[in-house]
Amino acid sequence: MSQRERTLGLLGGGQLGRMFASAARTMGFDVWVLDPDPLAPAAHFASRHLCTPFDDDTSLELLARSCRAITTEFENVPARTLELLAQKVTVRPGARAVSIVQDRIQEKTFLRREGFPVGTFAIVPDRDNAIPALTSLKYPALLKTARFGYDGKGQARVGSFAEAQSFLEQNPDMFPCIIEEVISLRLEISVILARSANGIVSHWPVAENVHHRGILDVTVAPARIRDELATRARRMASDIAQRLDYVGVLAVEFFVTGIDQLLVNEIAPRPHNSGHYTLDSCITSQFEQQVRVLCDLPMGSTEQLRPAAMINLLGDLWQEGKTPPWALVFDEPEAKLHLYGKESPRPGRKMGHITVLGPSANEALERALHLKNSLLNREKQSTSIPEQIDDIS
Ligand SMILES: Nc1ncnc2c1ncn2[C@@H]1O[C@H](COP(=O)(O)OP(=O)(O)OP(=O)(O)O)[C@@H](O)[C@H]1O
Ligand SMILES: [Mg+2]
Repeated sequence: MSQRERTLGLLGGGQLGRMFASAARTMGFDVWVLDPDPLAPAAHFASRHLCTPFDDDTSLELLARSCRAITTEFENVPARTLELLAQKVTVRPGARAVSIVQDRIQEKTFLRREGFPVGTFAIVPDRDNAIPALTSLKYPALLKTARFGYDGKGQARVGSFAEAQSFLEQNPDMFPCIIEEVISLRLEISVILARSANGIVSHWPVAENVHHRGILDVTVAPARIRDELATRARRMASDIAQRLDYVGVLAVEFFVTGIDQLLVNEIAPRPHNSGHYTLDSCITSQFEQQVRVLCDLPMGSTEQLRPAAMINLLGDLWQEGKTPPWALVFDEPEAKLHLYGKESPRPGRKMGHITVLGPSANEALERALHLKNSLLNREKQSTSIPEQIDDIS
């Protein structure tokens, strides 16, 4: 293999990129990362870190010349960057799909136009045209910026039209945005899939997710739901991937209502936090599959070998900057610690995760919550899991 055949390009150098780079290197590839942050976590696994903005022409030229194919781990890469690269080198996922899902207005409009179920929402384009949108739905509602939101950032919950209006008056940088009715959820699930250039789709088991303050807290896989609901979610995610002409790893987040109606929350054009369990519990992880699809290699089996629960480790755990007592994790024989190599543990920042395996999803979850509570050194459970739990045994 030539050096170029052996080199993969990665746009974005966060933890998702780090886990992609680790998988790629294990499989014999070199990885070049483009990320403006000198401390990008993926850089530790990269053979070259181009530390420039995403639209730097010299870096793009260099990547196109040096890489066999290019992928992204960061959904806010400018679409122009993907388009420029695509003129010279394979880029997966492509610019069209990424530009739709990186903008909530385009994403929701696409979903509604294609007939996928979404909650009630309205587009709030600017200050002068806000009133029709703000009066078109029921409250409470959520305002969400069209671009650059993540982990609940760029969102505000508003209880009434008046509150929405005054929030927007005080926060003009929210525009353009959308407003969504708050849905009464029974639970949240996600489907992660990989779609190859010739349209073959592989899915992992559906994941069940619990968020805390807008940030993913716990994932349980397989989700404790009826098979029929899981099948419906998987089908819908495949249809979305197909309608986007998507090639690569894609995640679809769903809300499940009290009557088991599925509503699409959002789409991520990359591996997903709720798919980290695949690293330790599936034959092929979401990151290995991303490498395979990028390089036109056959897809690996997505079979899950053992139920799993994943808990995110946020910066809050580093009380007074002290490293948490990892010995507690190593004491649990079926727990796996993953740290992302980030230096400053700020509150709310994703620093790592732990996956705990077990003979059943419930048992894995119980062990994971126990471990989390010991790390937090709290007697009371910090996470409450919805009581739903369809008994599928
Ligand atoms: N309309 C809604 N009704 C009820 N809950 C919601 C609604 N929108 C968002 N949430 C809650 O907030 C969480 C985060 O929302 P969303 O997925 O839109 O945010 P985000 O900032 O894009 O997050 P990320 O990209 O990290 O998943 C959801 O997973 C859900 O728990
Ligand atoms: Mg989300």
